[in-house]
Amino acid sequence: MLAKETILIVDDEEVVRKLLRRKLVGMGYQCREAGGAAQAMDELQAGAVALVLLDIKMPGKSGVQLLPEIKAAYPDKVVIMATANTDTDTAVNCMKHGAYDYVTKPFNLGGVVLSVERALERKRLELENRDYQQHLEERVSQQAEKIRQSFLNSITALAYALEAKDRYTSGHSERVAALSVAIATELGLPPEEIEKIRLAGLLHDIGKIGVKEPVLNKPDGLTDDEFQYVKSHCEIGERILAPIVEDKKILFMVRHHHERYDGAGYPDGLSLTKMPPSADVLAAAEGCTEVVHEGVGGGVPSWCRGASILAVADSFDAMTSERPYRRAMSDEMVCAEIERGRGTQFTPAVVDAFLRVKKKSLIAD
Ligand SMILES: [Fe+2]
Repeated sequence: MLAKETILIVDDEEVVRKLLRRKLVGMGYQCREAGGAAQAMDELQAGAVALVLLDIKMPGKSGVQLLPEIKAAYPDKVVIMATANTDTDTAVNCMKHGAYDYVTKPFNLGGVVLSVERALERKRLELENRDYQQHLEERVSQQAEKIRQSFLNSITALAYALEAKDRYTSGHSERVAALSVAIATELGLPPEEIEKIRLAGLLHDIGKIGVKEPVLNKPDGLTDDEFQYVKSHCEIGERILAPIVEDKKILFMVRHHHERYDGAGYPDGLSLTKMPPSADVLAAAEGCTEVVHEGVGGGVPSWCRGASILAVADSFDAMTSERPYRRAMSDEMVCAEIERGRGTQFTPAVVDAFLRVKKKSLIAD
């Protein structure tokens, strides 16, 4: 039989202790004994005791006096009072002070075992309940995070699936994410900001789901209307992600990845890191306006800095990939092209960091 909990029998009469011990050991419990209050506290200090059977009447410190001491030092210990049949009032009073139950002398041993079992079961439930309550909030938020993550995984998988259908864009989002992370790292941005930029890089073109394929893959130039239509992928992307991605900075990076440093980009004509966005844009950013104080984009919100990094990474990857309307350009040509856009299309410090990253990768190759 598997050993059950340890019970401490506190009674000044040895014969009573032995009687209870024999019965409880027979039921699979482990028992310890104490002939008085001091010894009882020593036994409790030694640990492992789950339940105390405590005699009310003992010479010296009585069970009534010892009970509050036990409850103060070991609030989770279960205490059952043992009392003479004639003094049940005292026992009931003890229950008001933290005892679980009382048993009467002379003992009905079956009744003692029943009381012990009930008390231990109740205690187990109490502890389980307390543990459940304490961890409930944690579990709920873990669950919510899991659900969010799984939505995010699905939408990222969808983005990959759409890209994979098209040889011109296959792997684009992953490459933009990786290059954005490299630039952000080169700029020494904090890891949590880099992670947001990575996610925004993975998701930046998700809005193309909402743009018809014949327009996206048109081999010759787009009409003005068609170009306006393609441009809408930034706002569509933000709308698709809004219910899933709680972090607004990621949403704004997705929305603004086609903005330019000189404010001539789309969809809102923000000048990214050159100057703070207008009051209207900041008002729409609802609580997402904390500004960058150091490095690139001092005085503008961090998502503007993230968008300026995505803009460079996105342009590099687009130009070095083959498109229906033109062939892929070489890395050198694209680097020169991006350098030409320094201070007009692109944030100067981001271009510099990008060129350093490219130089390092050339050396590494
Ligand atoms: Fe895009």
